[in-house]
Amino acid sequence: MKNQTSNINKDRIPKHVAIIMDGNGRWAKKNGLLRTIGHSNGVKSVREVVEASVELGVSFLTLYAFSNENWKRPKTEVNALLELLVKSLNKELPTFQENNIQLQTIGETQNLPKRCHKILRETIEKTANNDGLKLVLALSYSSKLEILNSVKTLAQKVAEKIISPEDITESVFSNELYTAEHPDPDLLIRTSGEHRISNFLLWQIAYAELYFSPKLWPDFTKEDFFEAILDYQNRERRFGKTAEQLKN
Ligand code: FPP
Repeated sequence: MKNQTSNINKDRIPKHVAIIMDGNGRWAKKNGLLRTIGHSNGVKSVREVVEASVELGVSFLTLYAFSNENWKRPKTEVNALLELLVKSLNKELPTFQENNIQLQTIGETQNLPKRCHKILRETIEKTANNDGLKLVLALSYSSKLEILNSVKTLAQKVAEKIISPEDITESVFSNELYTAEHPDPDLLIRTSGEHRISNFLLWQIAYAELYFSPKLWPDFTKEDFFEAILDYQNRERRFGKTAEQLKN
């Protein structure tokens, strides 16, 4: 297959790409394997998109690794997913350091088991001074819950007369989200042919370009990521303005 990187405009790389990695279970079923094997094959694709993001100079890559709703899956699958996370983080620390990658998380990570917490805390601390790609893992993440928590914090501040309702602007609200320090995603990719957002970054994707790939996550490669970037670059982002206004 032709390498797509040469066609990519290096001056129009999305600053923030978010990905809903979907289809591990279906990939496993298709190949007559256990769902957990689907997840472990998904790690290969995580590596591909991280490498591609470093190559292109993407600043933020947010991956939906475990939703708050995923706790409802069978215990064996939940354990396998979390174990995979621990194993992958242990293994990838040298790659993070070599490539100047900073690890961050969003989500109700306090709900994760101790062993996950420990490795996450260690990896976040060890990579804190890296100023290249920010790799953000959404873990035990629910966008509705994130929004509700922001509302509760601001309501409390109003009740205590620290702020008044008029002070609540978009930026004041955004500052209460996990993503306070992150720019909004420019591009949201979802794999596996599903056209849903599944409670992911609902506030933050207001103006994101959406890209749906039919590929199941374990089949998603660097080239597929480049294709998504090319598609993004061929779109006109108007942010509510007219095409004419943008030209001027
Ligand atoms: C969705 O497939 C995928 C997930 C719930 C988890 C994604 C996790 C990984 C790729 C591995 C670990 C991640 C890191 C960051 C090391 P699905 O199970 O919903 O697939 P299905 O819709 O076909 O059932």
